[in-house]
Amino acid sequence: MSASKLVRPSIEYKDSYLESLSEYHEEGRYKYRNAALLAQDDNFKRFVEDLCSEQGRLHQPMQDWVEPMPETVLWLVKDGTYLGSIEIRHRLNWHLEKWGGHVHFVIRPSMRNKGYGKKILKKAMPVINYLGIDKALLTVEPDDERAIHIIEQLGGKLEDTTQATECFPALNRYWLDCS
Ligand SMILES: CC(C)(COP(=O)(O)OP(=O)(O)OC[C@H]1O[C@@H](n2cnc3c(N)ncnc32)[C@H](O)[C@@H]1OP(=O)(O)O)[C@@H](O)C(=O)NCCC(=O)NCCS
Repeated sequence: MSASKLVRPSIEYKDSYLESLSEYHEEGRYKYRNAALLAQDDNFKRFVEDLCSEQGRLHQPMQDWVEPMPETVLWLVKDGTYLGSIEIRHRLNWHLEKWGGHVHFVIRPSMRNKGYGKKILKKAMPVINYLGIDKALLTVEPDDERAIHIIEQLGGKLEDTTQATECFPALNRYWLDCS
């Protein structure tokens, strides 16, 4: 049994990623990713190449009105199996400043509460810093006690809670020192 590690998205993890995608879909996450299309090898290859490109990708699902932002995507894997993702946006735009933050991290539902959420964020902190971000903004739903616990354990400081709008919920904004 090996330790968990952060890696670039790769076709090596296709099967476990697709299993995770169906878990994510069940909780309403990443609905814009089509599992049937991604099951085809060529499409999956293009998908991971796109994730690794670090180019600005259109913000889903508000691609029409949010400026694309370069993003580094890493996966947490263990024993050849995908466990979760972390997305690090290189800069903030008006939307990320209020709602998206620099960093989004997620663990596949079947692997939650086993310590991987804390691991993925902790392992990513030097990468966040390497990308030139000393203080990373993370936004969390005020009732997301697990995420809040992890962010605070790693030193995150609450800035404020944004006001809910028609399109977006109220979110706690935390600054995490990655320097
Ligand atoms: C947030 C998320 C990544 C956490 O992943 P996870 O693997 O379940 O987290 P971990 O197992 O590492 O840690 C959970 C911690 O929360 C604690 N915890 C669990 N339930 C809790 C609760 N109701 N209240 C407070 N703390 C709680 C656990 O005890 C553990 O802390 P510990 O290490 O001090 O014991 C996961 O729930 C997820 O993917 N959520 C959806 C996406 C999301 O909300 N991302 C964060 C916003 S960017």
